[in-house]
Amino acid sequence: MKLIDLAKEHIKSLRLCAHGGEVWHLNLYNPGRKDILDFSANVNPLGPSPKVIEAIKESLWKIPFYPDSNCTSLKEIISEYIGGISPENLIVGNGSTELIYMFTEVFIKYGEKALIPAPTFGEYEVAVKKAGGRPEYLPLTNGFKIDTEEFIGKIPDMKVVFLCNPNNPTSLSIALEDLSRIINEATKEDVLIFIDEDFMDFVPKEKRSSQVGEIRSHPNLFILKSFTKFFGLTGLRIGYGIGNIEMIDILSRAKMPWNINCLAEVAAITALGDLEFSVKTYGLIEEERQFLLRELRKIRGFDVLPPDANFFLINIEKTGLKADELKHDLLKFGILIRDCSSFEGLDDRYIRVAIRTRKENEYLVEALRKVCP
Ligand SMILES: Cc1ncc(COP(=O)(O)O)c(C=O)c1O
Repeated sequence: MKLIDLAKEHIKSLRLCAHGGEVWHLNLYNPGRKDILDFSANVNPLGPSPKVIEAIKESLWKIPFYPDSNCTSLKEIISEYIGGISPENLIVGNGSTELIYMFTEVFIKYGEKALIPAPTFGEYEVAVKKAGGRPEYLPLTNGFKIDTEEFIGKIPDMKVVFLCNPNNPTSLSIALEDLSRIINEATKEDVLIFIDEDFMDFVPKEKRSSQVGEIRSHPNLFILKSFTKFFGLTGLRIGYGIGNIEMIDILSRAKMPWNINCLAEVAAITALGDLEFSVKTYGLIEEERQFLLRELRKIRGFDVLPPDANFFLINIEKTGLKADELKHDLLKFGILIRDCSSFEGLDDRYIRVAIRTRKENEYLVEALRKVCP
């Protein structure tokens, strides 16, 4: 008997998705590697707020108890933080990734299609396939923008459309007008629309625009948010989704009990309350985005896409190096970057680097100058 023959057909063909942040495979605790600088994961370079660490220490007494499976306190705080929504509009996940999988498991029936722009975050595809659905990619064109006409033309044939705004790995926001047209078309056609806003907090104020306000008039709309990126709670695994009450009620039926541990909930509540730390994070990202844009553009052979979020997509073709070669060369300096060749729609000409602190960014630029002289 071969065990694999006992698995469901659509599960057999699933492949793990590659991600940044693979620091654990680099022997982080090997003395020679203690100084690894991770530019491959797009998270707050300051880590979590010091108040979060304190709150976690003070909450260790909660460990012998089951956590609140509904995350009642956190939902209240999130609804106040966002404004204009109630706790019933919220579902909390073990990282926003859990909610991507919950959404497809609940809504995608066998053989149904999901539209996904390419390149984008890889887990939408895997989640659709795991649910038995069929992902259909639409390549981004003309400077990595959505071809809105073509996108809209495909909507009636879909069960779900996925959008990531701003998009990973391009770091570009979707034009508001295009977004509204897509949302309206999906609503008209009774197609579900999933908008991942995990990186929205990093976007400059004048460009920042969440679609949360649209959930009232669009019952088919689901918005994804995370505590991983801006709030730096990466290893604690916590994120949330926003939708109308009926949408959240349906999703909640598929949620595993106690999916959020007691320390993650405390951390998220504290992070939302520490506005001073959020302002500091935002200020740092703004300043370093300008600094790195200027400096990365000076690296020989780099073609840098101006970012809206906290990371850069760079075409390195003219350096004569492939993405894995550059990644390998930078590891000698203790620097980890994201080789983007695993993204659908990209190849070995692309890398992604996150924004970190000034000293770290300077170190990256210095290393790049040596590797790409
Ligand atoms: C666009 C996007 N969405 C969702 C996620 C998942 O984040 P998490 O599960 O840590 O909230 C990631 C992680 O890289 C991402 O880039």
